[in-house]
Order: sequence, then structure tokens, then C-alpha cells
Amino acid sequence: MIGMRMVDLIAKKRDGAALTNEEIEWIIRGYTDGDIPDYQMSALAMAIYFRGMTKEETAALTMAMVHSGEVIDLSSIRGVKVDKHSTGGVGDTTTLVLGPLVASVGVPVAKMSGRGLGHTGGTIDKLESVPGFHVEISKDEFLRLVNENKIAIIGQTGDLTPADKKLYALRDVTATVNSIPLIASSIMSKKIAAGADAIVLDVKTGAGAFMKELAEARQLAQAMVDIGKRVGRQTMAVISDMSQPLGYAVGNALEVKEAIATLKGNGPHDLTELCLTLGSHMVYLAKQAPSLDEARRLLEQAIDDGSAIAAFKTFLAAQGGDPSVADDPDKLPQAAYTHPVTAGEDGYVAGIVADEVGTAAMWLGAGRAKKEDAIDLAVGIVLHKKVGDRVRKGEAFATIHSNRPDVRKVEEKLAAAIRLSPRPVVPPPLVYETIV
Ligand code: URA
Ligand code: CA
Repeated sequence: MIGMRMVDLIAKKRDGAALTNEEIEWIIRGYTDGDIPDYQMSALAMAIYFRGMTKEETAALTMAMVHSGEVIDLSSIRGVKVDKHSTGGVGDTTTLVLGPLVASVGVPVAKMSGRGLGHTGGTIDKLESVPGFHVEISKDEFLRLVNENKIAIIGQTGDLTPADKKLYALRDVTATVNSIPLIASSIMSKKIAAGADAIVLDVKTGAGAFMKELAEARQLAQAMVDIGKRVGRQTMAVISDMSQPLGYAVGNALEVKEAIATLKGNGPHDLTELCLTLGSHMVYLAKQAPSLDEARRLLEQAIDDGSAIAAFKTFLAAQGGDPSVADDPDKLPQAAYTHPVTAGEDGYVAGIVADEVGTAAMWLGAGRAKKEDAIDLAVGIVLHKKVGDRVRKGEAFATIHSNRPDVRKVEEKLAAAIRLSPRPVVPPPLVYETIV
């Protein structure tokens, strides 16, 4: 726009006015191209942090970031492409389970995934613990596999949402990450650029989550649902508990093993239940069932009759993986040492601080702190107890899987993460709210 100046737009936001769509597009284009320097973008991010954004501004920011780079065209895939996104969390095995599960009832799953930083690897790292499995497939092969098998996963290709990459990195070092419109637009821009027609969000809340408080999680969920509505992508959100890790396993191969058990109907209750809940919404949005109840029934049946695990095997084999790991999960990488962590007294589990358990897994080598770090796919932690469970003195509440004999620090970290109470404890709910 002729005559537009970044300094004036910063001042406008600083004073609490709303930016127009054209102004937001101009800013994101200029910032992506390098015409707007980091120091001005930092000032704007801080103004947004304090002043917020209207729904209209947030939607405009999202779409400006979507169009800052490549947008994946999934139109050659038949059906409604529904993507799922979980915000943070520890040892979150839902993606591994949900992909094959919903694919087995006909929902196309065209997943593009990265490696990322964190307590454990990303979905791709986890799947690479299956011997031979790889995501280096061409885009044509990827689209063909989704049409044929309803599921495929490809490594991040091309240049999706470069504006978000740059802005997120800038926010990270300018104390402006924690702004609802900035987080919501960041997450939604990536899903939309990756080709999603409809989006199911799993917003975690609790000690192990990005949004520690329910009220914050609700605001974030609502902001993302609002964006979806405004930009023509059906979007809904489930707010789920991450005050303790989901399921029992935290680690890469360990989570694949847990996903296999869940797809066969022998998984942890909480992981199974959350996958059925999120999965029902995916099936419903993909128009593969006329109601949520019917969607859930289809998914339960797919687990019972073996089609869910069969879809997982087909998916693995199609991308070079050994499908027999589903029959014999001991073929997955195994750690050299296992070390039980035992309770020092009788009691009830009152809390398992999820991000502390995640940190313990990271210390074992399950995750990356820096992009260049190598991951040990075999290591991690398997919990044996959940909040509310009874433990006896000397009983193991967790097992450390390690490739180093000395796990003293990890053991101390875990012991500190698990709180016992002498009196019975009511476990937290798994799902707090659903926002549509
Ligand atoms: N995750 C994202 O992708 N973006 C944010 O801004 C925060 C969390
Ligand atoms: Ca898990």
C-alpha cells in the first residue's frame, strides 16, 4: 500500500485500535520478505500481547500467514480432509492411534509432519522406530497412497507458513509467545496451509500443558474455533486433561508399542477414550457418519474387528516399514536397561506432573533440545499408575528404559514428579469441555 508505514501501524495497535485486513496483509508480506525488520515486528507483537486482536484481525493474520508460503493442494484426494492438532502435552500418543483408526473407517488422513523439539520426538521420529519405515516419499506417491489406503505421512516439504516460522522464533525471544491471538493464528495457519478442510483441536490443559489453566485453554480453543468459522474450515475443539501424562508410555518406540496395543483394543483406558472422542469428531466432520454416536460405534467396531490395526499395518508396509511389529512389538528398538522406580510408602497417587515426566524422558535421550540433537528411539518411561491409583510401599510406579546404566538423576526427577497422598484421591476428568 502506498504510504503505509510500519511505525504508524505499531502506534495504532499500541493505542488499542484494530488493524484492517489490508494492513495485516501488508505487515506479514513485508515481514516475510525482510522489508520490515525484527525490531518493528517485536514492537508490534508486544502491542498485540497487551491489546489483543479482534476475531476479524486474528482471522486476517491467520490467512496472511497461510499465504506467506506454499499451500498444499489436497484436492486430488477424495473426501473431506480432516486434520487433528494437539497443543503440546507429554507422551501424547493420540496422533499415532488416530491416523490408522479413522483411516480404517474411511476418513482420508494426509499427514504432513515435522520432527520438532520436545520431550520425545515428533510423530515421524516415533514411526521411524519401526524398522524400514520412512517418510521420504514424493508428493505424487503421498497423494496416491492416501487415495489407496486412506493414510500416508510425508516429511515437511516445501516452505509452509514462513511468516509463522519467523514470527514464532521472534516471539520466543521477545516474551510474546503467550498471546491467545498469536498462538491461535500460528497453529491454525499451519493446519490450513497443510491442506485441511476441517480441523479437530485437542487443547490440553493442566501442569503438563502449554495452557496450564482451564480458563486459558478455553480462550485458546474458542479463538481457534472462531478462526475456523471465519475462514470456512469447520473447526471444533476438545479441552482435555494433561495434568498427568496420557496413557502410560513416554518415549518413541514405547509410544508406538502403546499405540499398537490401543489399536488392538488393549490400550490404556484414558488414551483409548480420548482417541474415540477425538476420532468421532473427525469421522463426523469427514461425513463418514451421520452422528457422533454412530461415528463412535464405527470406531469401536474397527478396533474390535481388527480393521484398525490392519490399517496401521498397511500404512507401515506402504512406506517401507515392517508391519509384523504390530504382531510382535518386541521387534521395535529396546533399551539395554530397565529400572523400576518404587514407592517409598503406601498411599494413593495424587499427582503425576506431566512435564516433569517429560523432562525425565528427555534426559534419557528420548527428545531433542536442539534441532541437531540425535534421538534415542528406544528409551523413555513407562508409568504403571495413574492419579487415583493405590500404591504399596516397594511397588513400582514406573519403569525407566535406558541405554545407560546410571539413571539416578532420572529416578530422582520421576520420584519428585509423582505425589502420593495417604487418603483416596479422585482422578481428574479426561475431557473438560467441547467447543463447537
Ligand atoms: N504452538 C505453535 O505452533 N504456535 C504458537 O504460537 C504456540 C504454540
Ligand atoms: Ca502416552
